[in-house]
Amino acid sequence: MRDGYVVAVVGATGAVGRQAVAILEARGFPVRELRLAASGRSAGKRVDGHPVVALSEDVFDGCDIAIFDVPDGVSAEWAPRAAARGAVVIDNSATFLLEPDVPLVIPEINGQRVKDRPRGIVANPNCTTATFLLPLAPLHRAYGLRRVVACSYQSVSGAGQAGTEQLWRELRAAVERGEPLREPLGQAFPHPIALNVLPAVGSVRDGGHTSEEVKAQQESRKILEHPGVEVGITCVRVPTLVGHGVAVHATFDRSPDLEEVREILRTAPGVEVVDEPRSARYPTPLLAAGRDPAYVGRIRLDGAGNLAFFVVADNLRKGAALNAVQIAETLVALEPELRAHARV
Ligand SMILES: NC(=O)c1ccc[n+]([C@@H]2O[C@H](COP(=O)([O-])OP(=O)(O)OC[C@H]3O[C@@H](n4cnc5c(N)ncnc54)[C@H](OP(=O)(O)O)[C@@H]3O)[C@@H](O)[C@H]2O)c1
Repeated sequence: MRDGYVVAVVGATGAVGRQAVAILEARGFPVRELRLAASGRSAGKRVDGHPVVALSEDVFDGCDIAIFDVPDGVSAEWAPRAAARGAVVIDNSATFLLEPDVPLVIPEINGQRVKDRPRGIVANPNCTTATFLLPLAPLHRAYGLRRVVACSYQSVSGAGQAGTEQLWRELRAAVERGEPLREPLGQAFPHPIALNVLPAVGSVRDGGHTSEEVKAQQESRKILEHPGVEVGITCVRVPTLVGHGVAVHATFDRSPDLEEVREILRTAPGVEVVDEPRSARYPTPLLAAGRDPAYVGRIRLDGAGNLAFFVVADNLRKGAALNAVQIAETLVALEPELRAHARV
């Protein structure tokens, strides 16, 4: 192995970027030099004691790995520029998720895919997709996944720092007034999110689906390499701080045996089973927040013959920053002499 890598975190002041900085350190990723960048507004700030600079081409000079935690438009402009300068980009935005020449990777499921990156970019999946695919991938291998019908319960931090700030602001105002608010106190959500749920996450597309729902379907097909799988999901924003939950109802080619399902999930990487509903032991966002696994419980056959379960993972960690650092770990384990562009 080399004497560590030069790693940049772009968007280091944001909800995901801050986690990425902390996780790189906590997991002991071999960093020789850490460079943090954000918008010009943040130049001169510090994150975990490291200085932040305004994003520029200089950030990528001699950089081995650049983790991008910025809005879609910023990734679209800067990720190719970073790759052109020789960095392998791990991108957390939605920009490259579905590009055929960009691997979309959850290391526990398809880590080997990092080796095929002709554009020098590896994409990190959407936080909701990552959450429900961790348990579904091993079940697909065992039983053949045919269809998924799901509903998500997505926390406000999924909309970044602005989402978290809006919920706290509204909660304080609602407590002070002694009643729910009628107007939002922020730009992250179009309605009050405090004491409310919003049945739309992302922008609305043709057919009435939201961008988050379209991503969940298309990313599932790409990651599982299963173009025929049907995914119907309603994505809902709820007033929790961290942790996206998904209620999953899945149909397989072969009928799953519940005891075998539990055993498959108990040994699945990145998954932890918490399933003693009679003693109120099941996954919740508060259980998952700040932790690495996707927690699965309420495992049962539903009244319509599907396998049903509830899964929750920390959207800022497994849904974003942790997965990105795991991609970096996979890259350097498979190719210690990292090259920016590779095609297997
Ligand atoms: N939050 C989640 O659960 C989650 C999960 C999966 C993927 N993602 C994706 O990860 C990305 C970051 O999300 P987030 O939740 O961390 O958002 P956030 O809290 O709003 O942070 C955005 C970051 O991008 C930086 N930035 C904005 N405009 C920039 C520009 N023109 N040049 C350079 N830096 C710029 C911001 O810097 P300043 O502080 O200087 O403005 C900040 O560091 C997004 O693409 C999001 O869709 C988020």
